[in-house]
Amino acid sequence: MNSEEEILARMRPGCICKGIKLYRILQAIEDGAASFEEVAEMTGIGGGSCDSKRCGKKVATLLQKKKTD
Ligand code: FES
Repeated sequence: MNSEEEILARMRPGCICKGIKLYRILQAIEDGAASFEEVAEMTGIGGGSCDSKRCGKKVATLLQKKKTD
């Protein structure tokens, strides 16, 4: 992640209902989280009002992107 991407990720939402930024999710994946459950455990996302639907899709997309990078 370059510095511009990092700044944007620090501003963008990761889990809207808990106020957790996208940057935390990206960091968890960089630190080895390989499933939604692992990302949720490391960041606190999930279990909010979206019932893991919104953040689950986001994490699935990011994990898939990491596999293809
Ligand atoms: S976006 Fe907050 S629990 Fe899914």
